[in-house]
Amino acid sequence: MIEPKCDLTLGTLPLTYRFLFTGFLLVIGLGLCMAGAQIMLTHGMADGKPGLSMNDIVYSYYGNRSGSKLEAALTGKMKDKAPAEVNFTLIKWVRDGAPVAEWDKVRPLLEKNCGTCHDAESGLPEVTKLDVVTSLAEVDHGASISTLTRVSHIHLFGIGFIFMFVGAIFGLAEFNQFWKLVLISTPFAFLVLDVASWWLTKFWPGCAWITMIGGMGYSLAAMVMFATSFAQMWLPRWTKK
Ligand code: HEC
Repeated sequence: MIEPKCDLTLGTLPLTYRFLFTGFLLVIGLGLCMAGAQIMLTHGMADGKPGLSMNDIVYSYYGNRSGSKLEAALTGKMKDKAPAEVNFTLIKWVRDGAPVAEWDKVRPLLEKNCGTCHDAESGLPEVTKLDVVTSLAEVDHGASISTLTRVSHIHLFGIGFIFMFVGAIFGLAEFNQFWKLVLISTPFAFLVLDVASWWLTKFWPGCAWITMIGGMGYSLAAMVMFATSFAQMWLPRWTKK
C-alpha cells in the first residue's frame, strides 16, 4: 500500500502537541495500570486465590455452580468461625435451598457465630438477615445479562475512545508501515474479542481462555505504541532532524 508522504512526525511535532500527547499518554498509562490492579483485586480473587487464573474468569462470568457463596464461605474462609456441628447444620440448610421454615432454628446460630463481625457497621454482608443470607445461599450463576450489557457497552465505548487517540498519536511515529497498521487495528480487534469472550464464557465456561488472550492482546499493542510514541517525541535520535 502506497501512502502519500506525510512530513509531520512525532519528533518534529510542535512542543505544544508533544506536551499534550505526553500528558494524555501518561494519564492513560496510569489508568491502564489501575485497570490491571482492579482486575487482579476483583476477578483475580474470584476463586479465593490471588492472581488471575482461568478459574477466576470462569467464576466471574459463568459462576461457581458447584455451590453458593455461603457454602463456599462455610467450607473455606469462614470455616473456623463456628464449631463444626454448627457449620454442618448451616451447610445442610444451605444445600436444602435455605428453607424459610427453618429460619428460626438457623438464625440464633448465625447471630451467635457470625453476627459479631457481620453487623451493620462492618460493611460485610449482614448474614443475620434473612434476605441477605438467602441471596448468599443461591447458587452463583456468575455475571447477569444486565451486568454484562452494562460493562460491555462501557468497555467498548471507553476503550474504543482510548485507542482512537493512542492510535492517532502513534500514527505519527516513524514505523514500518505494515506493522503500524497491525498495531493500530489490533486493540480494536482484541477489544471486540474480549467483550465477546465474556458472553461466551457466561454460557460456555470453556471459553475463558479467550478472555485471557483478549486482555493480553491489547495490553501488548498498547505497550508498543506507548513506548514508541514517548521515545520518538523526546529522544534526540528522532527529534534532531
Ligand atoms: C471474626 C469475624 C468474622 C466472623 C465471626 C465471621 N465472618 Fe464472615 N467474613 C469476615 C470477613 C472479614 C470477611 C471478608 C473476608 C474476605 O473477603 O477476605 C467475611 C466474608 C464472609 C462471606 C463472603 C461474603 C461475600 O460477599 O463473598 C460470607 C458468606 C461470610 N463471611 C459468612 C459468614 C458466616 C456464615 C459466619 C458465621 C458462621 C461468618 N461469616 C463469621 C469476618 C467474619
